[in-house]
Amino acid sequence: MKCSERKIIGNEKLGKDYYLLKYESQFSEKSIVPGQFISISLNSEAMVLRRPFSIFDVNSNVVSVFYKKVGKGTCILAEKKKGELINVLEVLGKGFSFYDKDRSLAVVSGGIGVAPLYFLAKRLRSMEKDVFIYLGARTELELFFEDDLKKMGCSVCVTTDDGSKNICGTVCCGLEPDCEKNNFDRIYACGPKPMLKAVAGVADKANILCEVSMEEVMGCGFGVCLGCAVKIKTKETNPIYKMVCKDGPVFDSQEIDWE
Ligand SMILES: Cc1cc2nc3c(=O)[nH]c(=O)nc-3n(C[C@H](O)[C@H](O)[C@H](O)COP(=O)(O)OP(=O)(O)OC[C@H]3O[C@@H](n4cnc5c(N)ncnc54)[C@H](O)[C@@H]3O)c2cc1C
Ligand code: FES
Repeated sequence: MKCSERKIIGNEKLGKDYYLLKYESQFSEKSIVPGQFISISLNSEAMVLRRPFSIFDVNSNVVSVFYKKVGKGTCILAEKKKGELINVLEVLGKGFSFYDKDRSLAVVSGGIGVAPLYFLAKRLRSMEKDVFIYLGARTELELFFEDDLKKMGCSVCVTTDDGSKNICGTVCCGLEPDCEKNNFDRIYACGPKPMLKAVAGVADKANILCEVSMEEVMGCGFGVCLGCAVKIKTKETNPIYKMVCKDGPVFDSQEIDWE
């Protein structure tokens, strides 16, 4: 884990409120596990806490971050220009796991959840796995990277909540009927918590292993403030929590207490 000033080499607007930031990292593609994240200090006096972002892609030492403008920090980030410096703490957390014996894999994305999954799909394709992407968004205007994922050699199923593109419904409408047909060895997912809970349910029903990338509002980003706790299933009477920043953000879906 290193904290340093990094040079921005691009901060492109891809759609209303969606941006792709690129900066020169100290880390190379091989040293980063898909699902890991970075945290950025926005050097604003009004904002003490860093903001966490998944690693969207890495090309040699250039890290990309795909982000949505939702509040103060991401508004400041969206104003950053090529050549400016940002303070980045990298690389954080535990990413997705990979298994030689896996052949057929489902990668399920809801909205901005595509952020860690693009790099995951790229890594899986480099391992010559069969990758089936379920790309869900509220509307067509919030769907990104479909063509890039297809060019990578992934099979892509698109769903939109409002029916503006392809299947009208949630990602599970695309995923569930395919579970048996595609004989998935594992499901990887990232998106809003209700979506992750639904995907975990589909995985349980079909008896498929599933890893989910969880999001909680973070303080320190490395296990000290206990601000990002997620409740873990237990038979004990006392609740057990794990830290999304240190123990995750990727967890086995069966570990999470979804209630
Ligand atoms: C491990 C991890 C990886 C993430 N990766 C990405 C990514 O790749 N791209 C991306 O756009 N976002 C990502 N996020 C969410 C991102 O960190 C928040 O959107 C960001 O911190 C908001 O900062 P802000 O100052 O703009 O918003 P604030 O002004 O702090 O808050 C604005 C709104 O966003 C909500 N919010 C703030 N933080 C989070 C959060 N962590 N999860 C859900 N809602 C939040 C607040 O409750 C509030 O409603 C990730 C979060 C985590 C924990
Ligand atoms: S953010 Fe501080 S413990 Fe996770």
